[in-house]
Amino acid sequence: MRYLILSDIHSNKQALGAVLAAVRRKRWDKAVVLGDLVGYGANPNQVVDATRRLKPLVAIRGNHDKVCTGIENGELFNRVALEAAMWTRRKLTPSNLRWLRDLPQGPVVVDGAFAIAHGTPIDEDAYIFGEIEALNIFRQTDFPLCFFGHSHFPVIFGLSPEAITTALALESTLRFRLEEGCRYLVNPGSIGQPRDGNPRASFALYDSRTRVVTIQRVVYPIKAAQSRIIRAGLPRLLADRLAIGR
Ligand SMILES: [Fe+2]
Repeated sequence: MRYLILSDIHSNKQALGAVLAAVRRKRWDKAVVLGDLVGYGANPNQVVDATRRLKPLVAIRGNHDKVCTGIENGELFNRVALEAAMWTRRKLTPSNLRWLRDLPQGPVVVDGAFAIAHGTPIDEDAYIFGEIEALNIFRQTDFPLCFFGHSHFPVIFGLSPEAITTALALESTLRFRLEEGCRYLVNPGSIGQPRDGNPRASFALYDSRTRVVTIQRVVYPIKAAQSRIIRAGLPRLLADRLAIGR
């Protein structure tokens, strides 16, 4: 099976469109979305509509999806994130709001092949940035492979009997073969709000037969996404950071 792994789209329809165009000619069997479909960007309904059209699809909710749909009130959000969430709540169609609100909480096991989580498989709102956090998650779970999002950093943490290793995806493509006997936590990066200093949309493909994970970056029309954010009256910072990927 070839899985298309998407995370942290954040209402950025231009970025999602570029990713879907890039994979159109590649064969994938199932789309997997790790949460945060909305929040920050100016096109929540178009992003939810496009995601709902992906079939077959497995999706879980993220922290922004919870606040944007009223599951949580966003008391831990900063002012910019909260303003965008409240704007998103007003803009979502009833059907899309209901669909987002009904997304399951991670972890969810997909086809018996791997687990998916938004933040971590222990706590959907917690972050995995470095090896110590990854090690803590490895110790508290037994998933051989788990895809996660939330940090907006494309990275692969690997646990062998001897060591924990990190592969950070830096440029356009990282091809990584998962080794037998090792466990992995893989973040495909963010489609709509990259935060690793690389403004290109980030996503992953996973081939469960060859056990190869490919993290890929795609250029997209950033200026168009920015002008939609500004025209919508969303905080300027949300547009500015798209250009630098931070
Ligand atoms: Fe996010």
